[in-house]
Amino acid sequence: MAIKSSRKIFKPLVFAACLMPLAWLAYALYSDTVLGTKLMTADPIQKLDRELGDWALILIVLSLTVRPLAEIFKKGELVGYRRMIGLFAFFYVCLHLSSYIVLNLQLDFDEFIKDVTKRNFITIGIIAFTLLTPLAITSTKGMIKRLGGKRWQKLHMLIYAIVLLGVFHFFMMIRADFTRPSIYLGIILVLLGYRYWAKWRKSRPRKAVAT
Ligand code: HEM
Repeated sequence: MAIKSSRKIFKPLVFAACLMPLAWLAYALYSDTVLGTKLMTADPIQKLDRELGDWALILIVLSLTVRPLAEIFKKGELVGYRRMIGLFAFFYVCLHLSSYIVLNLQLDFDEFIKDVTKRNFITIGIIAFTLLTPLAITSTKGMIKRLGGKRWQKLHMLIYAIVLLGVFHFFMMIRADFTRPSIYLGIILVLLGYRYWAKWRKSRPRKAVAT
């Protein structure tokens, strides 16, 4: 009962928190256009695309931290927020891709195909997006049932490959100051390390009994 009522409060809060970056970007664009501020820098399209890419990556990483946090702090109910955060990550990736195609390339699909085939960091971005799409589609309870828990879990392990591709995409697009992608990479490696350690710890007692 306590968990149910706390979810009633926290779910809308998490939902609103995930929308905050978008609300901020909408406000900044409005302010620059109407009030003449320079919140979105001199190149607002590039700034918008980069911010959306950043938030997509942040939310993917955040969705991966949910289970470790739930296990470490023994708060299993936290896992209930993972799907929402993951779907918001997909939402920001879709906006990132759309802003690139609509605003940056102005719907020039020949240019898009050229970019995807010639600019390696765009190719990596498209691969990450393509892999993320089935995870978003299969995130419903109905799909978990249809696929079966084990197959669903195996499919969703792809998220580690996707997040590494996202960071790789980030590393490839910059020429200097690798601090930010390095921080993401560090966090992902810690999360992967935790996952393997938790798996090893779970399998240990059974092995001890067997020997
Ligand atoms: C899971 C998928 C993706 C993630 C996590 C992601 C993330 C990011 C990140 C973090 C940046 C750097 C932002 C910054 O400098 O602060 C970025 C830049 C960029 N991404 Fe993605 N991205 C993804 C997919 C894509 C796709 C599918 C495309 C387009 C086909 C794309 C196109 C770009 C472009 C063009 C930039 C550079 C923006 C600019 O300098 O104008 N990304 N992305």
